[in-house]
Amino acid sequence: MHTSDTETLDEQMAIEQRLVDSVVASFDSTTDPRLKELMQSLARHLHAFIREVRLSEGEWSNAIAFLTAVGNVTDDRRQEFILLSDVLGVSMQTIAVGNPAYKDATESTVFGPFFVEDAPEVAVGGDIAGGATGQPCWIEGTVTDTMGNPVPGARIEVWQADEGGFYDVQYSDGRIAGRAHLFADAHGRYRFWGMTPVPYPIPSDGPVGKMLAATNRSPMRVAHLHFMVTADGQRTLVTHIFVAGDPQLERGDSVFGVKDSLIKDFVEQPPGTPTPDGSDVGDRTWSRCKFDIVLAPEQI
Ligand code: BEZ
Ligand code: FE
Repeated sequence: MHTSDTETLDEQMAIEQRLVDSVVASFDSTTDPRLKELMQSLARHLHAFIREVRLSEGEWSNAIAFLTAVGNVTDDRRQEFILLSDVLGVSMQTIAVGNPAYKDATESTVFGPFFVEDAPEVAVGGDIAGGATGQPCWIEGTVTDTMGNPVPGARIEVWQADEGGFYDVQYSDGRIAGRAHLFADAHGRYRFWGMTPVPYPIPSDGPVGKMLAATNRSPMRVAHLHFMVTADGQRTLVTHIFVAGDPQLERGDSVFGVKDSLIKDFVEQPPGTPTPDGSDVGDRTWSRCKFDIVLAPEQI
């Protein structure tokens, strides 16, 4: 490299750095200190990205068109921005930052777009399928705090896809199925009938799906069942349990939600095996899974 090339490069770097410095300084008089920190750090990281990849103007236009498309398919039933955050691992990183590991508390994972408020209540031992089809699955466990004390009355929200990989909100008839809430009993125990989870794809017919296809990534999620557990004085737990042995575990989860501690055995029972509550599942297999939930205290 000639000296003059080096000088030109130095001058170019100085021009770029002066711009970064001006943008960062433009937020200097933000009165909310947290907003100031967020905006200045965002400016630094965005500019570092542009400079590192030497972003072209065409690529900038493509990025704007992509974000516009993400906005255009987003409405009150579909949140493509959250999906984008999910597939970039941004949701899981935010969860990691906000829910630090605490003793043996159950780990958190991604919330996902399919939770619905006001799902019906089922009694302990009830059935959450509500007509959704799938292999019956008996799920049971305890809810305790990190001292090992039971948490009676903990509210447990559960939701899952049917055997075709669809949540009720994806049905066209508006019925509620595959979701419910129940309360842990006086000993902190819970149990319910659901369905053995199956792997399924995240919605991939929009711009996020196109991005996954363009980068040769799969939209598939590892088979799972969602939980959200709330109790006074305890940190709200949003998590899933994943099915041990699901081949999708090897291939990876499209939203990076899997944590080893959340992989559980769903043990298949041969036809005719008596069920724990004596209910009749007919001449078919069923499965059972044990999931003990440990809640971290609200204030750590
Ligand atoms: C889900 O769990 O169903 C899900 C999570 C993140 C993105 C899309 C779907
Ligand atoms: Fe899900």
